Amino acid sequence: MNIALIGSGGREHALCTKILESKLTKNIICIPGNAGTSRIATNIDVNINNFEEIFSLIKIYKIDLVVVGPEEPLVNGLVDYLTKKKIQVFGPNKFASKLEGSKSFMKKICKKYNIPTADFKICKNKRDVIAFLKKNKLPLVVKADGLAAGKGVTICKTKNKVIKISNEIFKGKFKSSKSLVLEEFLKGEEASYFLVVDKNNFKFFGSAQDHKRVGEGDKGPNTGGMGAYSPAPIIDKDIEEKILKKIVKPTLHYLRKNKKPYKGFLYVGLMIINKEPFLIEYNVRMGDPECQVILPRLKTDIVKILKNCVKNKLDKINIKWKKEKSMTIVLCSKGYPGKYKKNQEIINFNEIKLNKKTYIYHAGTKFVNHKLLSIGGRVLNVTAVGSSFSNIRYQILKTLRKINWKGGFFRRDIGWRVIKKNENN
Ligand code: AMP
Ligand code: GLY
Repeated sequence: MNIALIGSGGREHALCTKILESKLTKNIICIPGNAGTSRIATNIDVNINNFEEIFSLIKIYKIDLVVVGPEEPLVNGLVDYLTKKKIQVFGPNKFASKLEGSKSFMKKICKKYNIPTADFKICKNKRDVIAFLKKNKLPLVVKADGLAAGKGVTICKTKNKVIKISNEIFKGKFKSSKSLVLEEFLKGEEASYFLVVDKNNFKFFGSAQDHKRVGEGDKGPNTGGMGAYSPAPIIDKDIEEKILKKIVKPTLHYLRKNKKPYKGFLYVGLMIINKEPFLIEYNVRMGDPECQVILPRLKTDIVKILKNCVKNKLDKINIKWKKEKSMTIVLCSKGYPGKYKKNQEIINFNEIKLNKKTYIYHAGTKFVNHKLLSIGGRVLNVTAVGSSFSNIRYQILKTLRKINWKGGFFRRDIGWRVIKKNENN
């Protein structure tokens, strides 16, 4: 099959690597891809929101299946557009993508089906905000309703901050929407749970724990994710049953009832409090960097999974996983998630030798005259698999130390919850 993969992050390099392993794969084009995908596939630099240009590439390259990595084209309706043109595409439709694209849409479903989530109010003006502030204790979480490239959520410890952040959103700080969701702060342990979903069925697609804060000790501002590991031991059988029964099934039922069934990867972002799962967010795609730790553990041919999903035949496939654990640490540009320099060279990249259990997935990178340059905030993901998280992290840190890049930084404490001193896990 000829496959087109949309996106340019570490997630897409991991997907591309896995798709390439499949016997079913003939050619892969990445739109636009990154330096990592350029070595294993054909990168084509087209804007991922320019649907017409994507369609013409699909025709030129005789593409049999399109796989959409990031949320933006999904929320903008790429799947509906390509489906109308009779192209096979893996990813949710525009309506279902509102699970991520609109926090108020997601919260309304929670209310309708009693899905456990933080108490909330959808606010359209200052009056709504004040009313919620009067009834609830601080801290509170302010969330821009629409997509905000990971920058739409602020945890506020004071009333003034709630009002300031809310005003910015009402004034149009984020182009996607001028309304917001104000919600109570949930204190617990975060975990990400993944499914692959078709019209009638869903299958488990891994669990992981991400580290959102920029600094060691989970300090500093939120980022897209500084590192992750899989599986997430906090999600035991009992919690998993609750996630499916109380959260996932009612949501999928709602979409089916509206004749817009879900199809694609579903990312269930959770806060676990006293063994009870609360829905923090849905994402309509794989996580980044969670994908980079889940895919190395996948045994089953990914193209078979994607193909069966598109044809609504997920029930015909058994998805198998390796027993090994995995972890990734993200190498970022100094300054991220704030301002950072671009086009810095990672000097010795081409000389770095990796063992069989270590992978480097590229994110914000490009090759210029065989030199590897950083072009984003999150630049490389060093990933390893093995039997103990502490040994995996040791291997990753060893590799990271070999990379000669003064402009970069990374967290050394990824996996702190599962690597306790003197414990062999
Ligand atoms: P979201 O984009 O909704 O996932 O929010 C980004 C991050 O903010 C989450 O991964 C959590 O770390 C944090 N967060 C969001 N909502 C809450 C909440 N209600 N209580 C505590 N933390 C939250
Ligand atoms: N790592 C969080 C996300 O992909 O949204």
